[in-house]
Amino acid sequence: MSKQPNVAQLFNEQLEQMGFDARAEYMQRQFSNVMHELQGSILEALGVYDFGENPDGSLKEHLKSSYEDWLPPYSRRMRVVVTGAAGFVGSHLVDFLMKRGHSVVAIDNFSTGYHMNLLNWMDHKNFVLYTHDVRLPLKIEGAVDQIFHLAGSASLQDCMIDPTSILTTCFQGTMNMLELARNCNARFLLASSCGAYGFPLWHRNPQSENFLGSVKTFGRRACHDEGKRVAESLCYAYAKQHKVEVRIARIFNTFGPRMRIGDGRVIPIFILQCLRGECFTVIGDGNTSRSLMYISDLIDGLVELMLSDYTGGPMNFGKEEEYNLIEITEIVTKAVRKVRGDKFRPTKITFLPSRKDDPMMRNPDCALAREQLGWSTKVDIDQGMLETVEWFAAMEKENWLYDVEKEDDRR
Ligand SMILES: NC(=O)c1ccc[n+]([C@@H]2O[C@H](COP(=O)([O-])OP(=O)(O)OC[C@H]3O[C@@H](n4cnc5c(N)ncnc54)[C@H](O)[C@@H]3O)[C@@H](O)[C@H]2O)c1
Repeated sequence: MSKQPNVAQLFNEQLEQMGFDARAEYMQRQFSNVMHELQGSILEALGVYDFGENPDGSLKEHLKSSYEDWLPPYSRRMRVVVTGAAGFVGSHLVDFLMKRGHSVVAIDNFSTGYHMNLLNWMDHKNFVLYTHDVRLPLKIEGAVDQIFHLAGSASLQDCMIDPTSILTTCFQGTMNMLELARNCNARFLLASSCGAYGFPLWHRNPQSENFLGSVKTFGRRACHDEGKRVAESLCYAYAKQHKVEVRIARIFNTFGPRMRIGDGRVIPIFILQCLRGECFTVIGDGNTSRSLMYISDLIDGLVELMLSDYTGGPMNFGKEEEYNLIEITEIVTKAVRKVRGDKFRPTKITFLPSRKDDPMMRNPDCALAREQLGWSTKVDIDQGMLETVEWFAAMEKENWLYDVEKEDDRR
């Protein structure tokens, strides 16, 4: 009988097989995780970390701050509020923060988000969920370090169904969360949108932050585009008048697992059509182009921006490559073919008439994020698409998509 290698031996072999960079990154990640765990355990042993539940004692505060000063900055454990936490971007951000040992207060009114997206953390001691509409004021007991304000929708479908709610969430919701930041002395990051540039003009493509926009108050996307503009202006007003530390991320099209199915965006529609063997429905002649950033790249960017000292205004986050709709059907087909294997059936394309106010192109210039944060996208579109299709296929197999679609119908 051959001798089985033990776990340590296998682990060492795997490390050996990694390239130098991958090994260094892996070791760094492990070290950082150990530091977090260690810090968490020490703070808990001191009884000082439960900001929410424990009354502040001066000795405890002193111990906590001395201890935190001693730690290297990357391992500082924080209490972070995430609004829109049950949505696509929000739930990935929650995963990122929780996995690094931070404490998260998740806020959502579940207008478009799903409980399922937060299931991993529901019973975790570092996680608390408030079902709350950000259009109403909110008070949170205890210290808060950062607020990521993501509540709101980027979907055209939602803009057509309830534009007033989108606008009030952008204005009243952002103001309430800025008030929270002001009261807690927390740093605030707004998830704004490329919609703030309005209709992209061909000679301003790619769009950089110094393009002031071509916006329309009276169109199908106006509630979202103008809403994000007013939200950005509110951030500026609170920074100037109330000294709140604000950061503004202008997010371009992002895709990945947990994208909402019923929100009319091209990626979930194409993936489901391809998985179900239905025709791709391409709106227009197929030449409309989109840049597509994978979700993990966006999360890295949001976290980097939040931690940075940059206060010069909005910053773009997106993939600096454009694909037309026909190319996107090909990328989706390639990923579905890999996932389905022998069961794959090719899908045809049906062309539908173009829609009014649909931008023909959308492409970011991310030089500012590169210069200020050293940020750039890392995930290749084929790899991101494969992970997204795998998620959709798993959801479909478990019949969860059916439940989610039913939940969408009830809304
Ligand atoms: N995903 C993208 O490609 C993209 C592009 C540009 C901007 N953004 C911005 O990023 C943020 C997150 O987008 P997403 O794609 O995750 O959308 P999403 O619809 O998946 O998530 C939004 C979340 O906000 C919650 N929400 C909405 N209104 C609320 C309110 N009044 N009070 C409390 N919660 C509320 C919803 O229930 C949902 O969970 C949005 O602000 C969006 O405008 C996203």
